[in-house]
Amino acid sequence: MDFELKTLDLAGAAREKCDALVLLVAESFKPGKDALSKLAAEALKGRDLEAKPGKLLQAYRPAGIAASRVVLAGCGDGTGKRVHTAVQAAVGSLRTSGVKRLVICLPGKAGEDAVRAAVAATAETSYVYVATKSKPEGRELQRVTVAVEDAGRHEGGFAAARAAANGVEFARELGNLPANHATPTRLGEEARKLAKAHGLHCEVLGPKEVARIGMGSFTAVAQGSEQPLRFIVLKYQGAPQGEAPVVLVGKGITFDSGGISIKPSQDMDEMKFDMGGAASVLGTFHAIGQLRPAINLVGLIPSCENMPDGRSVKPGDIVASLSGQTIEILNTDAEGRLILCDALTYAERFKPRAVIDIATLTGACVVALGAVRSGLFATDDTLARQLLEAGDAALDPCWRMPLDDEYAEGLKSNFADVANVAGRAGGAVNAAKFLQRFAGKYPWAHLDIAGTAWKSGGAKGSTGRPVGLLVHYLLGQQDAASGRPARRGAKRKAA
Ligand code: BES
Ligand code: MN
Ligand code: ZN
Repeated sequence: MDFELKTLDLAGAAREKCDALVLLVAESFKPGKDALSKLAAEALKGRDLEAKPGKLLQAYRPAGIAASRVVLAGCGDGTGKRVHTAVQAAVGSLRTSGVKRLVICLPGKAGEDAVRAAVAATAETSYVYVATKSKPEGRELQRVTVAVEDAGRHEGGFAAARAAANGVEFARELGNLPANHATPTRLGEEARKLAKAHGLHCEVLGPKEVARIGMGSFTAVAQGSEQPLRFIVLKYQGAPQGEAPVVLVGKGITFDSGGISIKPSQDMDEMKFDMGGAASVLGTFHAIGQLRPAINLVGLIPSCENMPDGRSVKPGDIVASLSGQTIEILNTDAEGRLILCDALTYAERFKPRAVIDIATLTGACVVALGAVRSGLFATDDTLARQLLEAGDAALDPCWRMPLDDEYAEGLKSNFADVANVAGRAGGAVNAAKFLQRFAGKYPWAHLDIAGTAWKSGGAKGSTGRPVGLLVHYLLGQQDAASGRPARRGAKRKAA
């Protein structure tokens, strides 16, 4: 799908030939003398339209307007969140009506957040999964014009929004693939393809190399599967070589059966989404590769299946992690932390400014925060604040959770340095405390996306979260890195 940004007032928008035109109508809407203004003003006056987000009114070939259909969409105060709701409703109402060419009109002084939300919501709502359908009927939308009063002011924000939307979609597509397609090997191939397309450095290690390095914990999880593990290392260099990178670590369990501590069969299919963290790292590289900001970025993806087998790791088995710490695996279903801990130790070699791991880690996080906010854990307050702000701005929010040492009590083992599970209470925090033992050498944050990476039920499917959050955070890291002065013309927010 092509997105373009254009300067158009309402009279200009009325002259745009397209299959559908969405006009966002805010509470502050000031009608002009053009046909679109008249339509919206009359609809408001007749109470057939309200400026409330989610309220819609469709018109077919209205007089004086070139578009075949017009959708008037209330957008409240016109801020990002309301615009997102409005565009979601409007584009949703046009699904399966054959609209190929769409204009979305943001009248008045649209904010950067509104433009970002319009792009994100259009891409999200029009996405159609077809990869494993025999008669693929894909997305109808082909070209989307975002019309604003002053396109010049929005160019940077618009390009970022478009790249982020592409990254989200890339992550969704990978996330939605079933486990017999999205194998660790396939993830490795996708990483290589990304690297080729964007000039990134990419290395993909296999079982022998990973065992040789000493990743005994990661190796233990993978050993019950016929699918060979992969450890993916991606590097993007947009700043001078010596500048410390941000490292993203994504959990890439392509199927989590639980292993010997096997899961109940109800909804087990959803454990194909257990590579959502990995998908979000790849999606983020997709966006960063397009935008080429002045930062250095490393992506690490430990990927394997968690399966029961005669060769599987068993409850009570003790393994040696790359850090040297021994781990008693009391529950083979707490496998995410076992593959992440070795990747977190591996991250030390990059002398990172920050390491952020992203993982569908605990059912307990779903209980705590539901599907609205991802769980955020951080050892560094600045990093935590930046991620919280990025999440809110990108409408991909997270919420900070505690890391008190008392939560680590339950991880004590009589036979190893640490156990991989504690009690059920505070499960999301217990898991984070386990990871923290391996992340002591740099500022660290952990995003538990178990509740946000996919939707269940009728709308079952990957969301692509938290690509939006990560891209926004990373773009904000330009200039902030190692005190380099701001680029000329770049706007910096006061701290
Ligand atoms: N991938 C799951 C977490 C998960 C479960 C995400 C349900 C979304 C929905 C993870 O590997 C897991 O199984 N965690 C266990 C940990 C427990 C054994 C301590 C869990 O949450 O039940
Ligand atoms: Mn599990
Ligand atoms: Zn898992």
